[in-house]
Amino acid sequence: MATKVIVQIPGEADYAVRIGSGVIGKLGQNLREIERFARARDVLVITDSNVGPLYLAKVKASLANAGFKAADVAVPAGEDTKAVDVAAEIWSAMAQLSFGRDCLVVALGGGVVGDLAGFVASTYMRGVPVVQVPTTLLAMVDSSVGGKTAVNLPEGKNLVGTFFQPSFVCADTDTLETLPEREWRCGCAEVAKSAVIDSDDFFFWLLEHAEAMAARDADVAAEAIQRCVVFKAGVVAQDKTESAGVRECLNYGHTLGHAIEACTGYGTFSHGAAVAEGMRFAVRLAASVLGDAQGAVAEFAEAQGDLLDTLGLPPLDYEAAPRDLLAAMKHDKKNRGGEVRFVLARDIATWEITPVSDETILQALAS
Ligand SMILES: NC(=O)c1ccc[n+]([C@@H]2O[C@H](COP(=O)([O-])OP(=O)(O)OC[C@H]3O[C@@H](n4cnc5c(N)ncnc54)[C@H](O)[C@@H]3O)[C@@H](O)[C@H]2O)c1
Repeated sequence: MATKVIVQIPGEADYAVRIGSGVIGKLGQNLREIERFARARDVLVITDSNVGPLYLAKVKASLANAGFKAADVAVPAGEDTKAVDVAAEIWSAMAQLSFGRDCLVVALGGGVVGDLAGFVASTYMRGVPVVQVPTTLLAMVDSSVGGKTAVNLPEGKNLVGTFFQPSFVCADTDTLETLPEREWRCGCAEVAKSAVIDSDDFFFWLLEHAEAMAARDADVAAEAIQRCVVFKAGVVAQDKTESAGVRECLNYGHTLGHAIEACTGYGTFSHGAAVAEGMRFAVRLAASVLGDAQGAVAEFAEAQGDLLDTLGLPPLDYEAAPRDLLAAMKHDKKNRGGEVRFVLARDIATWEITPVSDETILQALAS
């Protein structure tokens, strides 16, 4: 069964996120139902070298059945592909295909393809529509919705990009069957993050279904994706361009998480494992910065720990000097004015974004 979430962001056209088994089969038809695509013809499907062999034919068949003429580009899988020179190659390919402003781009893959394709679409001829077809759990629950696009520079991740909402999102849960286990857990960390920041309802639902989620139960996954999309759409609706101090909450667990990834060498731990560790740290830090006279933060830390353990995200055994971790955190582009900003959670759905002094961070890291 498929479900549909409508994303409504002030100042943007509404768009639908279809979630469920087999929804790729209806992609072309669903696009035709969107007024601006009623007469569209040229489509460029951007995918990667892992996802293309698995799902490109299905996507192209669905588009062809609805009368679209689809070309495709497969980029190498992996974070290195989020680069300006790769974007430039795709711009050129589109120009050589004589694609005009009435074309559309379909991003078929995980967050890497989604961010790259979104960036390409938002800049080609000053912007052509992009449709996201996410195939990782992380991309379904997070990156395909909300309109952040990016490429990396040698100086840092996501330093060049745009805010550009997709026109449609098609999250076919069947594609998750081929997702490697490590990538599944990565997505689970973002689901846990969303649940903690969102509400008691989402948190306790996830706690109850955490074993099934870890075991990749399709129905539980579909509901988790739907809940995450509703949550993220709500956050983005309040703060589309991350300027009102709300969207930053999505960074929960990421401040230390990114630093762990940088200090231990990217790829040593998965992004999700590092984020989960960052979530545990953010609660310890909350207790020391905000106080915990009643023991409520400690109780929450335990509940969050249980959730992460059950999702297959145990505490990380990593080696990195606190000073190196702090230096990596300071490098984060989200900081302002020298101090590291943390999303600190004291309880479920009770968080604040606070600058934390170097001393406090170092003490918490040392303990
Ligand atoms: N735009 C946003 O709001 C946002 C939010 C979070 C993360 N991101 C970005 O997302 C990226 C990470 O995304 P990701 O975790 O999806 O990684 P990814 O796109 O690199 O995908 C992970 C791996 O899984 C493979 N894969 C994808 N789908 C598959 C499937 N169904 N079956 C088998 N293999 C499959 C990919 O080829 C890749 O090797 C980062 O670049 C990050 O910056 C963006």
